[in-house]
Amino acid sequence: MNQQSQQIASSVSPYAPRVGRIVDFKKFTDREAYCRFVFDDGQGISYQAGQFMEVSVFGVGEAPISICSGPGQRDDLEMCIRAAGDVTNWLHKAEVGDAIGLRGPYGNGFDMDRVAGMDVLFVAGGLGLAPCRSFIQAALADRKKFGRVTILYGGRTPKELLFADDLKVWAKREDCEFQLTVDRPDETWTGNKGVITTLFRKIPKLDPARTAAFIIGPPIMFKFAVLEVLAMGLRKANIYCSLERRMKCGLGKCGHCQIRNVYVCQEGPIFTYAEVMRLREGI
Ligand SMILES: Cc1cc2nc3c(=O)[nH]c(=O)nc-3n(C[C@H](O)[C@H](O)[C@H](O)COP(=O)(O)OP(=O)(O)OC[C@H]3O[C@@H](n4cnc5c(N)ncnc54)[C@H](O)[C@@H]3O)c2cc1C
Ligand code: FES
Repeated sequence: MNQQSQQIASSVSPYAPRVGRIVDFKKFTDREAYCRFVFDDGQGISYQAGQFMEVSVFGVGEAPISICSGPGQRDDLEMCIRAAGDVTNWLHKAEVGDAIGLRGPYGNGFDMDRVAGMDVLFVAGGLGLAPCRSFIQAALADRKKFGRVTILYGGRTPKELLFADDLKVWAKREDCEFQLTVDRPDETWTGNKGVITTLFRKIPKLDPARTAAFIIGPPIMFKFAVLEVLAMGLRKANIYCSLERRMKCGLGKCGHCQIRNVYVCQEGPIFTYAEVMRLREGI
């Protein structure tokens, strides 16, 4: 890099987003929508499963959103967005072709290499499926990298289930175990009923010494699911969760996400249960 390009590079603010464009949008449920983005600069992006982006709507604000597409070097990015406030409600009204800002990827993501060769168990509740889906896509695309792949997914009602097309594919695949449940079935529902922990009794026994569990969902689900995997004998260092804190910068600068001396936006959002035990108020 010559001196002039170095000066230009160092003058670009880390807060400056790249311009992205919505190229695919569909409603999953009343509250959640799927969005696929590409970058106007045509440069693509490289990221790991479990990382997130700061998505900005110009003149409205910015929000951290997990990447839900499979990891690697790609031209596009997928996200699942729940309408919660200013930015996310705007995104729900967006149309294909609309421009938004994208900063990132941020966060540590899942350490997929650390669990390579192990059996992987995903326990996802509601929107927690979004970051898990990125890892699941990678695990199913490179099936030999992992031992058994088990996916447990729970939603409140059948209408609130996300990624319906993926769920059908996972249910049909013979090289992974997939179980689905809803808390409150409707008249159309013929599947499992009850909270996600009821699914643990439906899966073949896992070897605790070689299993890593990824439990991503609401805190109440995490609390009970972690008891199940601890009872199965999994080590705390092989149980992973995601800590969602209020985030602003995503860069370890503003302190919004800080728990004690830990910046969740940088050291997380993925932590092992052993680490979370040290950050009790994080969950
Ligand atoms: C690492 C990370 C990954 C995330 N991934 C996703 C994702 O994949 N999909 C998705 O839809 N959302 C995700 N979120 C949550 C999302 O960032 C918030 O819902 C978002 O900030 C709302 O922005 P907004 O401008 O629409 O809402 P605002 O107008 O900022 O606020 C809406 C309401 O939500 C509250 N709120 C804002 N942020 C949070 C938060 N982090 N936790 C709890 N309450 C909050 C506000 O106090 C307010 O009541 C993620 C958050 C984090 C930290
Ligand atoms: S969000 Fe600013 S320090 Fe983490």
